[in-house]
Amino acid sequence: MMRRKIVAGNWKMNNDINQGLELVKGLAKEIDAKNYNAEVVVSPSFVNLAGVVSELKDSKIGVAAQNMNENVSGAFTGEVSGSMLTAIGIEKVIIGHSERRAIYGETDALLAAKTDAALANNLEVIFCFGELLEERKSGNHFDVVTSQIEKGLFHLEASAFDKIVLAYEPVWAIGTGETASPEQAQEMHAHIRKVVDAKYGAAVADKLPILYGGSVKPSNAKEIFSKEDVDGGLIGGAALKVEDFMGIISAFE
Ligand code: 13P
Repeated sequence: MMRRKIVAGNWKMNNDINQGLELVKGLAKEIDAKNYNAEVVVSPSFVNLAGVVSELKDSKIGVAAQNMNENVSGAFTGEVSGSMLTAIGIEKVIIGHSERRAIYGETDALLAAKTDAALANNLEVIFCFGELLEERKSGNHFDVVTSQIEKGLFHLEASAFDKIVLAYEPVWAIGTGETASPEQAQEMHAHIRKVVDAKYGAAVADKLPILYGGSVKPSNAKEIFSKEDVDGGLIGGAALKVEDFMGIISAFE
């Protein structure tokens, strides 16, 4: 089964507009000159989205927001709605990143509502989840991940999954330099696909891209991405330099 392959760079709270434009100019020069077997996405912070979209208007590189609000509009100071994103040409949004869950207390129920709001705006959702170190050590990682997916997404109709990409990001591997082994990633991704299959059937599960995130770098990307159920990556630190990010994308040469 040939699934979409995706390499997405989550910039988190890094890069001002000048640094961001320099980065995407460097990436576009390489990516648009060649045919990689993966879609490439960058995810700048809200304030830099419009500038990056405009810089990439003739590029194959896609742009995702890192978050959005679940409401349509109104008195929500400091928040950004889905329609504000689509109005500036954004087509994708990351929802449920572990930093949003852990630092900003975003619950499964809130993330389900954010997913609904994103889909209502025809945004593609990169839905993130993953277990803590304690949860893996106690052997609960499969149950934790199953529950995050069920609570965040299993209220959706099967057809909604055309606009869903999953990202498994074990919290213990994010920004720590410690990566899940290719076998650990494969084992979890196969589990995730089985859970989706049991609920929605093979037609949905087989074509659903499942990305891995957590300390992916040029030296380990190819091996992780070579696993059958790993359809690319969500990259943090190594997405901030042209050379590093290209070193990861070139796994899909
Ligand atoms: P690192 O690649 O820096 O570990 O971050 C992963 C991540 O959280 C991407 O969303």
